Amino acid sequence: MLHTNLDINEKGHLTLAGRDTVELAEKYGTPLYLIDEKRVREKMRTYVDAMKKYFGRGSVPLLASKALCFKKIYQIANEEGMCTDIVSPGELYTASCAGFPMEKAYFHGNNKTDEDIALAIKLKIGCFIADNREELDSISRISKEEGVVSRVILRVTPGIDPHTHAAISTGKVDSKFGTAIETGQAIELVKYILTLPNINLTGIHCHVGSLCFDSKPFIDAADIMVAFMAKIREETGVTLTDLNLGGGYGVRYIETNPHIDIADNIRQVAEHVSAVCEKEKFPYPRVLLEPGRSIVADAGVTLYSVGSVKTITGYKSYISIDGGMTDNPRYALYGSDYTVLNASDANAEPDMIATIAGRCCESGDLIQENVKIKKPERGDKIAVLVTGAYNYSMASNYNRIPRPPVVMISPDGDDYIAVRRETYEDLINLDA
Ligand code: LLP
Repeated sequence: MLHTNLDINEKGHLTLAGRDTVELAEKYGTPLYLIDEKRVREKMRTYVDAMKKYFGRGSVPLLASKALCFKKIYQIANEEGMCTDIVSPGELYTASCAGFPMEKAYFHGNNKTDEDIALAIKLKIGCFIADNREELDSISRISKEEGVVSRVILRVTPGIDPHTHAAISTGKVDSKFGTAIETGQAIELVKYILTLPNINLTGIHCHVGSLCFDSKPFIDAADIMVAFMAKIREETGVTLTDLNLGGGYGVRYIETNPHIDIADNIRQVAEHVSAVCEKEKFPYPRVLLEPGRSIVADAGVTLYSVGSVKTITGYKSYISIDGGMTDNPRYALYGSDYTVLNASDANAEPDMIATIAGRCCESGDLIQENVKIKKPERGDKIAVLVTGAYNYSMASNYNRIPRPPVVMISPDGDDYIAVRRETYEDLINLDA
């Protein structure tokens, strides 16, 4: 099947990590997010080991926790030797409550408030990834008030277009994130940072975009970033040590997407960083990467129950499910590809083409169109594959629909709840 943790059992049911997804859907109800913990750990190990091997000691992956965020994920990341990228005070708080060591947390975001910065300093954040001058002024001032020196990596834009969806392309000069190298503003900002008290600038960061199927954007970024580090040394005398190339490797959502060999891609980037350091006569830096999707996406499957199959004569057919854009907004937002199948009858030949529709009061609430699928009955379970990234973390309560639970399958095959299902009570809890 699409990934090695997926299969079909003797009952014709889809399995994830060897567990019958239809049985789990019956046990926990639907919609249901399932996550294969073993797969998450394997991916984390691949990054940790390959980065150590190819970039050298000190180089480490940061889990981009925006892809999948709850306490257990931070605990797993810590056990597997990862650092983490957090992007909001909510993620910061979650990591801290999970017991994640804060010195291994990197605080991102293009508009950190003074309260966010103060909270991060109070929780002893390991590093700020700073976005802009105003924020740097605040980090400096609050660090001084608290009597600490804050480590900072500056986010810059290398001016690279990774040819991915416009909404997830972030390394171009025209971006709300970071400061452009090309316009000369980044070097000016570096010089300014070096005058600020209580700030220890250790490196630079870029994130070219998401869903990249090869290393070309990272290699192009490395050229520009190392050259920029060399320019900083030349113009200020300061040799920065951290080169953070962000996240962005893709994952196979559908059969026509390629498989990516993460370790081999890391090798390619590392060799290139070596070559460009040699060319620029710059000491090999400590390299950081921020993978999110490529760690958690293929560990996840979402299960839904079918309510109806409606064929509009002369037009098309809709399969209505008991979830939708509230638990997976990615098709509505980006037209994302997904593999969808009838998990209750997964061996059967597809006999219809259907649009998978959610239950929100919104025509755009679709999960996928033109899906070839075995016609389901009411109550059959529909599986959407590769939903571990940016599904639970992007879920909402639109139409006051409670968010589904996240159930994990442990490496020894047991199922357990990592996030419980929201109740109607939860929905009104904040109402006055
Ligand atoms: N680092 C930074 C600074 C980022 O902005 C991101 C993603 C990552 C790392 C992780 O990228 P990944 O390895 O997961 O591609 N909601 C969109 C994706 C938005 C990504 C935003 N930043 C989606 O569902 O496709």
